Amino acid sequence: MAESMKGLKRTHRCTELKVSDVGREVVVMGWVQRRRDLGKLIFVTLRDRSGIIQVVFNSETDPELHAKASQVRSEYVLAIKGVLARRSEEAINPNMETGEIEIIASEFRILNKSEIPPFHIEEITEANEVLRLKHRYLDLRRPHLQRNLMLRHRIAKIARDYYDENGFLEIETPVLTKSTPEGARDYLVPSRIHPGKFYALPQSPQIFKQLLMVAGFDRYIQIVKCFRDEDLRSDRQPEFTQIDLEMSFVDIEDVLAVNEGFVSRLFRETLGIDIPTPFKRLTYSEAMERFGSDKPDTRFGLELVDISDIVSESGFRVFKDAVESGGSVRAINAEGAGSKFSRKEIDALGEVAKTYKAKGLAWMAVEQDGLRSPIAKFMAEDEIQSIKDRLGAKPGDLLLFVADKDQVAFDALGHLRLELGERLGLIDHSRFDVLWITEFPLLEYDQEEKRWAARHHMFTAPMDEDIEYLEKDPGRVRSKAYDMVINGYEVGGGSIRILSQELQARMFRVIGLTDEQARDRFGFMLEAFRYGTPPHGGMAFGLDRLTMLLAGTDNIRDVIAFPKVQTAACLMSSAPDTVEEKQLEELHIKTVSKESEE
Ligand code: AMO
Ligand code: AMP
Repeated sequence: MAESMKGLKRTHRCTELKVSDVGREVVVMGWVQRRRDLGKLIFVTLRDRSGIIQVVFNSETDPELHAKASQVRSEYVLAIKGVLARRSEEAINPNMETGEIEIIASEFRILNKSEIPPFHIEEITEANEVLRLKHRYLDLRRPHLQRNLMLRHRIAKIARDYYDENGFLEIETPVLTKSTPEGARDYLVPSRIHPGKFYALPQSPQIFKQLLMVAGFDRYIQIVKCFRDEDLRSDRQPEFTQIDLEMSFVDIEDVLAVNEGFVSRLFRETLGIDIPTPFKRLTYSEAMERFGSDKPDTRFGLELVDISDIVSESGFRVFKDAVESGGSVRAINAEGAGSKFSRKEIDALGEVAKTYKAKGLAWMAVEQDGLRSPIAKFMAEDEIQSIKDRLGAKPGDLLLFVADKDQVAFDALGHLRLELGERLGLIDHSRFDVLWITEFPLLEYDQEEKRWAARHHMFTAPMDEDIEYLEKDPGRVRSKAYDMVINGYEVGGGSIRILSQELQARMFRVIGLTDEQARDRFGFMLEAFRYGTPPHGGMAFGLDRLTMLLAGTDNIRDVIAFPKVQTAACLMSSAPDTVEEKQLEELHIKTVSKESEE
């Protein structure tokens, strides 16, 4: 039987009670974390979103209440009335926020019972994640997830306050819309009224926010859901949230400055950490050369070094051939790893390199009196010496080499660098390195489609000095795009947009869109741009990723109330699911089963 709350009003959340409240009569409500029976005393720890407090039932002072307390079980919902007391010296629990106090119960009600939950709800859980996701509402009772979602709320609140104070207006854009240009696969929604036609869920509000600039709103912000049907990873979800913004009458510096203000305020107000502005900047090419990544984790060294010039005539064919065919040979010095890693461990690093398309991983372990290396025998003394000098190699070091096309060498060594940084304990996990990456290539060649594609999106402006190469040498054109990177995560990105219609038309042509296709997909935008468009630019932060970083987790599911799993399914609601035949009919849709398709 559930008892009524009538006559009882909650006075505090559990951890709002302090030593200074001792002696007061209080009422708390929440869930039973644990009941301990010690004969004449029963201790119940009660949990609400703020944390936990201990409640005491004494059989000598109140036998009836004590008997009733012996009935409660984990996750029962209770209302407790009592007097706050200071615990005796030996009962103080220094690991508990309310460890110096407890409530001596004078009345309590069982507001609701609970079945035995499928897993025990506690801060650190061993329970399997599938089970927890199925019962997400129970998993969410864990303090860890409660804290993360409270942090997420704080971040969104700070964003709204900060951008509001800087003249941004929050304006909503449609969710049922036309395909947008971010380059991932769209989620489509069939139209009932227009047979055979579909809305696309926005991959971002990109076009609409640019149109808001045409409309004269000047500064826009929106905390907005975006949808992308792409392969999921630990930092990606099919629906995720952006802090999306756009500004008129600005250049790169203005956009970066406003957003640096936001991020430094965010760190100050959530973690009490001071991130000095202006933030560090790296150009894309410097980031690739030094870290093999356009989202480098700069909290540690192990930088990449180009040794192509030294080995261009090497007796080791792999090196010579790579340089001759226009690629490069790059290396990292894993300091100290030569004396730490076994042959087997080094071979395992080679396997890591291969997952990033490297054909192999050559290595040299530098020893007191020589080298351990499968490739040294092919190389000249002075060649080896030059390599050692350039890499600053000392006895005990492990030199790792990849010879390949630049992109493969960057990618393989960039990932090895991250793995080695972790394994050699070089990463200071208490540190936050915030930086901008600038001067991205405007275009990238899509090998599958055999055409150039916009790297950011097709409204991103090229750098003025590179416009002339747009048709002649597309790969060389740099853009006015920028990403914000924190500890190796891309937390946001944006660009200054193309203003001139003539330049926009050239851009469409370079990426293989005919004038007709461009008109068909973006005609409404191109038309709008004819009526006095202000110079504008903006960016979007991934709210989920920012929250992950500030919460100190590397799993995006830890910061989303109801996340999806790798297969884009929700284990709790079992979405996506089949629908009634009638609904499909109304939508003019027939489904084809996999078998009959084949
Ligand atoms: P972009 O595509 O770079 O830019 O996205 C901006 C930021 O959104 C986050 N993000 C994601 N987070 C979780 N799951 C995903 N699947 C996911 N995809 C992206 C990242 C990323 O930096 N319209 C442009 C912005 C602009 O030009 O103003 C855009 O969407 O943190
Ligand atoms: P092989 O002569 O092919 O047996 O290779 C000798 C060593 O060079 C092995 O350790 C390979 O992993 C390594 N290796 C092969 N191809 C490459 C490459 N493209 N870049 C770096 N090392 C390589």
